[in-house]
Amino acid sequence: MELRVKRAPRIDLEITVPGDKSISHRAVIVAALSNGMCTLRGFLPSEDCMNTVNAMRALGIKIEQPEPATLVIHGKKRVLTAPSQEINCGNSGTTMRLLAGLVAGQKFESRLVGDPGLSKRPMDRVIAPLCEMGASVVAEGPEGTPPLRIHGGSLHGIQYRPSVASAQVKSALLLAGLFAKGKTTIEEPVPTRNHMEKMLNYFLVRTTTEDDGSVNVFGDQVPESRDFDIPGDISSAAFWLITAAAQPRGHLLIRDVGLNDTRTAMLGVLLRMGAHVREAVEDVEHVEPRGVVEVTGVPLKATVIQGKEVPQLIDELPILSIAGVLASGKTTIRHAEELRLKETDRIAAIAQNLRTMGAQVAELSDGLEIYGPAPLHGARLPSFGDHRIAMAFAIAGLFADGETIIQDAECIRESYPGFQAVLEEFTNAKRMQVSTPVIGSLAPVPAQEA
Ligand code: S3P
Repeated sequence: MELRVKRAPRIDLEITVPGDKSISHRAVIVAALSNGMCTLRGFLPSEDCMNTVNAMRALGIKIEQPEPATLVIHGKKRVLTAPSQEINCGNSGTTMRLLAGLVAGQKFESRLVGDPGLSKRPMDRVIAPLCEMGASVVAEGPEGTPPLRIHGGSLHGIQYRPSVASAQVKSALLLAGLFAKGKTTIEEPVPTRNHMEKMLNYFLVRTTTEDDGSVNVFGDQVPESRDFDIPGDISSAAFWLITAAAQPRGHLLIRDVGLNDTRTAMLGVLLRMGAHVREAVEDVEHVEPRGVVEVTGVPLKATVIQGKEVPQLIDELPILSIAGVLASGKTTIRHAEELRLKETDRIAAIAQNLRTMGAQVAELSDGLEIYGPAPLHGARLPSFGDHRIAMAFAIAGLFADGETIIQDAECIRESYPGFQAVLEEFTNAKRMQVSTPVIGSLAPVPAQEA
């Protein structure tokens, strides 16, 4: 499928975005381990999250889906059954890594497979600690790549310091730790998204976080069945927030979006770039804070994105690169070598597509230097089979002369099934009366040193 995009007029809109992808994966897994029925609302019915749903079904959990965004999960008190065939994780790295942690704690054998894209991604980051906990995890692909053959059971807790800042690794080890003897500790020198800890706590599983950021979980706990409402995905919202931010006097309000502060670093970057950004957490009591974000656009200024900020906006770097090319000055992204290991090598993909659109870009081993503001011209661009590259460059097309065509855009369904409909709304700029919430301005956030 090709996605065709034209320059958009200035927007003034109010929208919502579908459920958070990271939270959806975790809610399904923890509810499935609970001691009863759990209804999840606001679930993201994207291909990636459905891979997790189908994986849990393959492990013997009944999951009904009365509506696309509603799941009824019949938890079986931590009892999972051996899958009758291999578990297909599709293109979802989160599914494979979290599942690896989960099945490492089970006494049966599982084989986790992925599509050709996922089959190139590194799994050694979960294999090493899971083996240290006592599981047998064998990568059948070259250099620690999928498929994974996992035989688990009889795990013991370990203290582990991952070599990369990764919420997927932390979450895999927390799940394995739930089935391990004693305490499992994950040292986190650079904080990553904390949805797994929060989800476990919401289901009354005890975890603790130490002053140095280490997270502990104790084995043998049964999650208590509960219902959960998943907020909108701030990573999906980012595409539209950045569009509004880069249009002088563009205005956008997004309601009911997740505002967990391990995920909102992108808003701080937009503030540094000069945009007017306001957020209001509406439900402070909720385990996952949610609320309203409002952005008013300005001529953006370049910024530096680096250090501890990077893991907290890792998925937003493709669209922040588009903000960079629209801003005046040199935008620098550093310490983001993990981008080369996502659905595609995102550093190379961003550099190639920005150049095709007429921008000047330098590729660094761990990031990019992007010179703006560049007069972008429409072009035919590959998606590299990467949903966030496809969406980021569809947004670039809203700022380009002529037509931009994103090839192989069906990958967008992995994280954001309704993206195209909102894109059309932006292109047609159906003007709406926006009721501005009374929320205070945020102060600019300095770039963080490594
Ligand atoms: C995710 C964590 C991030 C992110 C991915 C989703 C998660 O990956 O890029 O899209 O849900 O845990 P890493 O933790 O491996 O950086």
